[in-house]
Amino acid sequence: MKIGVAADHGGFEMKRQLAKLLATEGHEVVDFRNAVYDADDDYPDFTIPLARAVAIGDVKRGVLVCGSGVGASVAANKVNGVRAALCEDHFSARQGVEDDDMNILCFGGRTMGIALAWDCTKNFLDAKFSGAERHRRRLAKVAQLENSTMARRNDRQELQAIGPK
Ligand code: RB5
Repeated sequence: MKIGVAADHGGFEMKRQLAKLLATEGHEVVDFRNAVYDADDDYPDFTIPLARAVAIGDVKRGVLVCGSGVGASVAANKVNGVRAALCEDHFSARQGVEDDDMNILCFGGRTMGIALAWDCTKNFLDAKFSGAERHRRRLAKVAQLENSTMARRNDRQELQAIGPK
């Protein structure tokens, strides 16, 4: 499978190890950088190019690493068509694909060990979206938000209509 990887300084070493393991397993790995350790780099500079590549199909799936995995997932999910999540167990890494069609997996290089990250990665890559009607229906509701140029205005109107007072 063609897989993109990317990381800032917080995930640099884990990304390097994961890229090596993925290549050993026969995957085609595209490295969206950072190519060198830079303690001052910013995760959006690497996560967003990878997220865009996943969204347009240049790579099939992505693995992102930052210090906690939070910034990477927040940034990646701003790109239309991306469904990214931080997973720290193999059940979520697999079910995130089967039910939610997750296409980017995020890790915290400072919060997880490589053995767990690799276990999650293998489950993520082995899994396929089930295509079940209920999951398609739920994903369609999420995708609706992406497709609307009025999304922000709708957010405000909906919050006023149904949100907490
Ligand atoms: C960088 O120090 C750190 O904030 C970043 O890698 C990440 O953890 C953000 O969520």
